[in-house]
Amino acid sequence: MAAPRTPLPFLVLLLLVVAALIAAAPLSSAAEPGSFDVRRHLSTVTRYDVARGSNSLASAPSMSDECRVIHLNLVARHGTRAPTKKRIKELDRLAVRLKALINEAKQGHENDPMKKIPSWIKGWESRWKSRTKGGELVSEGEEELYNLAIRVKDRFQGLFDEEYHPDIYSIRATQVPRASASAVAFGLGLFSGKGKLGPAKNCAFSVLSESRASDICLRFFDSCETYKNYRKRKEPDVEKQKEPILEHVTSALVNRYHLNFTTQDISSLWFLCKQEASLLNITNQACQLFNEAEVYFLEWTDDLEGFVLKGYGESINYRMGLPLLKDVVQSMEEAIIAKEENRPDGTYEKARLRFAHAETVVPFSCLLGLFLEGSDFEKIQREESLDLPPLPPQRRNWMGSVVAPFAGNNMLVLYQCPRKTDGSKISWDQKSSYFVQVLHNEAPVSMPGCGNKDFCPFEEFKEKIVEPHLKHDFDAVCRLKPVVTEEPFSFSSKLSNFFLGLFSQKGSRVSAQNAKTEL
Ligand SMILES: *[C@@H]1O[C@H](CO)[C@@H](O)[C@H](O)[C@H]1NC(C)=O
Ligand SMILES: *[C@@H]1O[C@H](CO)[C@@H](O)[C@H](O)[C@H]1NC(C)=O
Repeated sequence: MAAPRTPLPFLVLLLLVVAALIAAAPLSSAAEPGSFDVRRHLSTVTRYDVARGSNSLASAPSMSDECRVIHLNLVARHGTRAPTKKRIKELDRLAVRLKALINEAKQGHENDPMKKIPSWIKGWESRWKSRTKGGELVSEGEEELYNLAIRVKDRFQGLFDEEYHPDIYSIRATQVPRASASAVAFGLGLFSGKGKLGPAKNCAFSVLSESRASDICLRFFDSCETYKNYRKRKEPDVEKQKEPILEHVTSALVNRYHLNFTTQDISSLWFLCKQEASLLNITNQACQLFNEAEVYFLEWTDDLEGFVLKGYGESINYRMGLPLLKDVVQSMEEAIIAKEENRPDGTYEKARLRFAHAETVVPFSCLLGLFLEGSDFEKIQREESLDLPPLPPQRRNWMGSVVAPFAGNNMLVLYQCPRKTDGSKISWDQKSSYFVQVLHNEAPVSMPGCGNKDFCPFEEFKEKIVEPHLKHDFDAVCRLKPVVTEEPFSFSSKLSNFFLGLFSQKGSRVSAQNAKTEL
């Protein structure tokens, strides 16, 4: 199906609005000189320590001392990785383009054509030039997971003091090398000192994977036909939505550096900036091409893509994650039963640790209802559409750098608390009560689905957060149904909503009307 044509006047008008916003944007941050750090604005290419650095742990709520942690669920994204093969090729093409642009400039009519061109561009070669393999976990990524494990072991001491057994500490990863390597890096941190291997007294531990094709717990996005179909259909729309911003940034850079960049060049240069800043800690080359306001807008385009294709933009994005949510709840139920039956240590699972992808962690966060604005939780429950993340300089909850940086994770901590019988007298003989706490990137988050509580009673967690999702079923949701033909003007009407949204400062509506048609 051909994409509906966008009426030109709309795009032009939109461009003008974006231009005005970009021109106005720097004012807000100019107040704090030196505080801008591009490394915080790389969306899902942001390094874990940078993302975690913005967590304030000072106001962390704490549980009564009488309570103890009895089980931990972890769902983590793999750590920092090398660019994928496809992206390596894109950078190789960029090198060719930059050479051509410089030659073009030399032939131009300028007196001193090289004056405005940053020196690094001359003769630039990609750091990953003609590499044929990519996407692997790099050493920085290993450290992210290793250090995370050390902190987890420290934080939940009572949980990890037992001897290692694969049924007590269950480690699962997807059948993708960067995810299983992440699991290994984490395990090395968690279990060092527990075994007999080498001076670090390492212990061998197992990492289990389902086959790629049938891993509906951690790679549901790969087995859900409805989602794959949605994504393919939606990608061109997302590109269109990014276009006005890319075009504006492109013309700004053409003027600034007197090089005839195309939007594709700018898109590749932004990608290069993200790789340089996160993998190489270089911020004074590709990143320096963009001013602060331009970085905020480019970051927004990445976050928009994540929202529409992986997040709240469409219910299928997270509904397909149901098998994972069920697996998490089931592991907690089993831990509770073990406690209620007073089973001895060493006979039941204490932690289930999973290592996967942004496409796993993001939907899982959505299922828990994290990062919603205001009354969004109620909207989701009523299956209504959500507003797109508002354009900068407005603040937004949905930031890729927070939602799913490298090694980004959610932990569900299960607490057992003694039930108070008469007044203050506590007794472990009585049936206990159980609470769930959610940590996102190790910081506690309150759950909008649980009355914004930090510690959600387990029964309430099941009833208010999990159950509403259970009326859907993975097989039913993911089975492909005949595609409903879109109304012919849906895209332009979306654009006009987008445009109106800019003025009302509320962002636009996502076309989640199809939430009802269930695709
Ligand atoms: C950019 O392209 C235009 C037309 O395609 C040309 O006239 C101009 O000289 C070029 N500018 C540079 C700096 O190469
Ligand atoms: C990255 O570079 C900055 C200076 O720009 C430096 O302060 C910082 O320590 C570097 N970080 C790493 C991990 O090398």
